[in-house]
Amino acid sequence: MRFSGKTAIVTGSARGIGAAIARRLASEGAAVLGVDQAEARDTEHDASGGSIEHVQADIADPSTAASLARRFADRPLDILVNNAGIGNSRPIDQTSDADWSRYMEINLGAAFRMCRDLLPVLTPHHSAIVNMTSVFGLVGFPNSLPYSVSKAGLAQMTRQLAADLGPKGIRVNAVAPGVIETDLTRERIQNNAWYQKIMCDATALRRNGTPEDVAGATAFLCSDDAAFVTGHVLVVDGGWLGARFLPSVDGE
Ligand code: NAI
Repeated sequence: MRFSGKTAIVTGSARGIGAAIARRLASEGAAVLGVDQAEARDTEHDASGGSIEHVQADIADPSTAASLARRFADRPLDILVNNAGIGNSRPIDQTSDADWSRYMEINLGAAFRMCRDLLPVLTPHHSAIVNMTSVFGLVGFPNSLPYSVSKAGLAQMTRQLAADLGPKGIRVNAVAPGVIETDLTRERIQNNAWYQKIMCDATALRRNGTPEDVAGATAFLCSDDAAFVTGHVLVVDGGWLGARFLPSVDGE
């Protein structure tokens, strides 16, 4: 019950990682506003007293963040999770100007506006922002240019905002997942042999991650358990980045 009485916004909450984060925060007592471009569902109530109210909105629309802020005029916002994002980008020679702008706008620009426009309603001295970046924002990965650059920008925005907002007592951290089985990755996990070899088979813990794996790490960063943690990018990748398992090394 770490979030009893707390308010939270989670973007991209209709499915995948965002849905798991919203459920996890609500299960520990938070009143969550789930924001997604998908059609809104009825409010969900958790036995803990927490809830998830679903709102349909496009985070790339420049007016979305400001209109969400108006919902918090009477009660402050404690937790902001900028999770929504798009993936599956193409190599540089197949990336148009419009593609580039789309990745930057949804994965980076929208998170910037959410932070800026919700700042006035964030609880002073005791609130937390978590941005969903990626291991692809921390290392180069073949044929993933606009996605990786947008996620690297989000990791740096996290460090920068930690510096800017630390004096106000607002903590800003990021989670960098490795391969997590969701609608975003399922097709590649099941049908792309190269992706299976370089991502799934190279994960030290020998399994793909689940949305709940990411939700647990995100909840930690949102909670008082991380009260002295800010400017950190928490890698949740089963060891892909730090201790990758190479099948050829031990003959398996
Ligand atoms: P997903 O594609 O299953 O879900 C993304 C959700 O965000 C969807 O419900 C979608 O409707 C929503 N969304 C997308 N654009 C939106 C917009 N403009 N406005 C409002 N809602 C929007 O993706 P998944 O796998 O759950 O990923 C969530 C986040 O985690 C993304 O930022 C992704 O880049 C990141 N991530 C995912 C990894 C994975 O292996 N699945 C690995 C590393 C990072």
